[in-house]
Amino acid sequence: MTRQMILASTLDELRSARLLLDGKLGFVPTMGYLHEGHLSLARRARTECDSVAASIFVNPTQFGPNEDLSKYPRDLDRDLHLLEEVGVDLVWTPTPEIMYPPGFQTWVEVQEMTRSLEGAMRPGHFRGVTTVVAKLFNAVQPQKAYFGQKDAQQAAVIRQMVRDLNFPIEIIVCPTVREPDGLAMSSRNVYLDPDQRKAATVLFRALSAAKAEYEKGERDAEKLRGKMKEVIAREPLAQMQYVSCADYDTLQELDKVTGKTLLSMAVFIGKTRLIDNFVLEAPPVTS
Ligand code: PAJ
Repeated sequence: MTRQMILASTLDELRSARLLLDGKLGFVPTMGYLHEGHLSLARRARTECDSVAASIFVNPTQFGPNEDLSKYPRDLDRDLHLLEEVGVDLVWTPTPEIMYPPGFQTWVEVQEMTRSLEGAMRPGHFRGVTTVVAKLFNAVQPQKAYFGQKDAQQAAVIRQMVRDLNFPIEIIVCPTVREPDGLAMSSRNVYLDPDQRKAATVLFRALSAAKAEYEKGERDAEKLRGKMKEVIAREPLAQMQYVSCADYDTLQELDKVTGKTLLSMAVFIGKTRLIDNFVLEAPPVTS
């Protein structure tokens, strides 16, 4: 049976619609301008859950003063069409006034884990993310929520928040979906002109080069960071912001790779800031 996708904007509309959804609910929070990366999360939720909800909300509190909030790309009609095709049951599109009513002053903040990497470069970003995701979880009340490995630190921070605040929600982290040339899909890729678009593969190339070194036996984290820096430095249109070789769970920078590890980076291509990462699985234990 196919039923019509429900569209909710106000909290009352969301709550009435939520009551109609039976069984285990999977939830996919997004900021819209959807691509295959977002849709892969919705498809996975569709296979694992009885009902699927998504939200589209460009969350102002996770953007810094010099970031791209006002020009963040939007196309609601296209987004709704794509979600309907995947078989999503409910889409919530709250307004900023619903999420941040006048006098708003309650924040959710994960502390330690948000001080490095993206958190160090984008002060206040994760406070905005965790606050909005906590509010989305409270309103939607899903049993499972789906996030992309593309935003590795975000996924780790959300997992921590769910543990710390006892949300009865299972967090599922799904693989990064890439373009054929390796560029991780991102709503921000539309900012790139054709030359920049070619240069943007440098993130994938740098991560692949470091992974190849790792697979040849390199375990010195500084050498792996050095390899990534070297590849980025050879790309004239790219400006490195950081490269990291960190513990997958704690996100602490490593000296030596011993367990599950996150290689990650932020690189400017022109004015567009791109991030990407690879996970190195823990090496097999040899006796
Ligand atoms: P947004 O950037 O729209 O991403 C929504 C979800 O899609 C996130 O979980 C993100 O990791 C995932 N995603 C993005 N690109 C992906 C790709 N190439 N492959 C796999 N998954 C991908 O992340 C946010 O929105 C916001 O911070 C949000 C969690 C909605 C809170 O405002």
